[in-house]
Amino acid sequence: MARKKIIAGNWKMNMTPSQAVELINTLKPLVKNDDVDVLFCVPSIDIIPAMEAAKGTNIQIGAENMYFEEKGAYTGEISPDMLTDAGVKYVIIGHSERREYFAETDETVNKKVLKAFEHGITPIICCGETLTQREQGVTIDFIRQQIKIAFLNVTAAQAATAVIAYEPIWAIGTGKVATTEQAQEVCKAIRECIAEIYDEATAAAIRIQYGGSVSASSAPELFAQPDIDGGLVGGASLKPDFGQIVNYNK
Ligand code: PGA
Repeated sequence: MARKKIIAGNWKMNMTPSQAVELINTLKPLVKNDDVDVLFCVPSIDIIPAMEAAKGTNIQIGAENMYFEEKGAYTGEISPDMLTDAGVKYVIIGHSERREYFAETDETVNKKVLKAFEHGITPIICCGETLTQREQGVTIDFIRQQIKIAFLNVTAAQAATAVIAYEPIWAIGTGKVATTEQAQEVCKAIRECIAEIYDEATAAAIRIQYGGSVSASSAPELFAQPDIDGGLVGGASLKPDFGQIVNYNK
């Protein structure tokens, strides 16, 4: 069965609740495309108004982070029940900005992934190398390590429903998009790694996004690659360009 593309915006720390509603109202007529799952991952405080604004459209609302404990004395964190109660079905886990600024590690990523599955939330698991790692030729080794730890104790049935976002750190927010060949090469290696951990059927089912300076002009070629099942889009998801990205195949 062909994998359905999933194109997600990652708003990062942008948009107040009222701006979120405004942006969704602007984008909703532009992001209609039945061939694609369309998702906006938004700051926690925007989730509820964004859900409301997206009602009756094809836009799904996801979260940018989640904690791996059920509840309790974790000031400032968002629990899985808080997300599911608000209707959230997807959460970004282990974005490179969270790894860099908030000390997330492959181990905490794994705990969050397991917790998300336990609550029926689909994790969008981020991985990606630095420029130094790419220049030293260790990209694939590094990504394989990130993937193998992220999926520790995740069942094949769960893994088949997961989303992986390959985001080379040097391409995020830099305007320096990876070449189509570079993106396809790593996404293919990720799929092979999943086949190695599980089996061919799981590898064929899992969806792998590319992220890092995706734009209306780079999206069509990137998303046409055999192992790229959509994108995780930062900057361009806050603009009408996102409509063109979602409609990359029109
Ligand atoms: P960018 O961000 O599209 O602005 O490069 C992508 C991301 O960090 O998810």
